[in-house]
Amino acid sequence: MNTQEEVGEFTQIFNALMSLMRKFIFKVLCAGPIPNHVSFIMDGNRRFAKKHNLTGLDAGHRAGFISVTYVLQYCKEIGIPYVTLYAFGVDNFKRQPEEVECVMDLMLEKVEYTINQAVSGNLNGVRVFFVGDLTSLNERLRVAAQRLMEVTEENKDLMVVVCVAYSTSHEIVHAVRESCVRKCDGTGDDPVVLQVSDVEECMYTSVVPDPDLVIRTGGGDRLSNFMTWQTSRSLLHSTATLWPELGLWHLVWAILKFQRMQDYLEKKKKLD
Ligand code: IPE
Ligand code: MG
Repeated sequence: MNTQEEVGEFTQIFNALMSLMRKFIFKVLCAGPIPNHVSFIMDGNRRFAKKHNLTGLDAGHRAGFISVTYVLQYCKEIGIPYVTLYAFGVDNFKRQPEEVECVMDLMLEKVEYTINQAVSGNLNGVRVFFVGDLTSLNERLRVAAQRLMEVTEENKDLMVVVCVAYSTSHEIVHAVRESCVRKCDGTGDDPVVLQVSDVEECMYTSVVPDPDLVIRTGGGDRLSNFMTWQTSRSLLHSTATLWPELGLWHLVWAILKFQRMQDYLEKKKKLD
């Protein structure tokens, strides 16, 4: 056996042990309530790149994508049915054009890779949904995002909602416009009366229930225009950990906090 084969065998054994350990931890965790929907505000990619002297405008974001794959795997193993990822906000378009282009190219690369994974049957029950002002994405990315939604639409284990070109302000304006169009009878004689439920039905994120737990990395305590309408009853867990550094223990810790706060959250829900 040469060194390369030895390393390969060691990696396989290590991965099997880690998977066994996770199974055990998640079994214990599942003795308590598990959030139905977890949202992630993924912040700190560029600081990660700076901290580790990584060069290239997309270096931190690339590291962030690796984190996404691990976190989604853990969520799926825990049995969380819905996950939302704040991938790119409307305000992020104000960044340097070179960085925006880099992030969009990276997103396209990952979306195309995920399409191939899905087509070859390696996505294991993950359904991907893109929400936001998708018209502001470039044509190739928009088409690829649409294709990924189509090829995964039958998957039922975990629904991942990727928010791109997203902000709640834009989402509300879009939903109000859309619900007006739906409610208009065409004559223009009677004023349109909107109910909250009409607007809610037209929100981009109406495909998922409201989040139970919002996890924000990078040390911020703000929602940054992310699902502000939908999170009035959610628990916000903020960690100083940068997104590419988020690991198994951070996720477990956040869920344990959610479990500890359960009585309080349930009481609040009833009082509203
Ligand atoms: C979040 O990380 C990723 C995106 C908004 C695309 P940042 O790029 O905001 O990284 P920091 O917060 O500047 O470190
Ligand atoms: Mg940031």
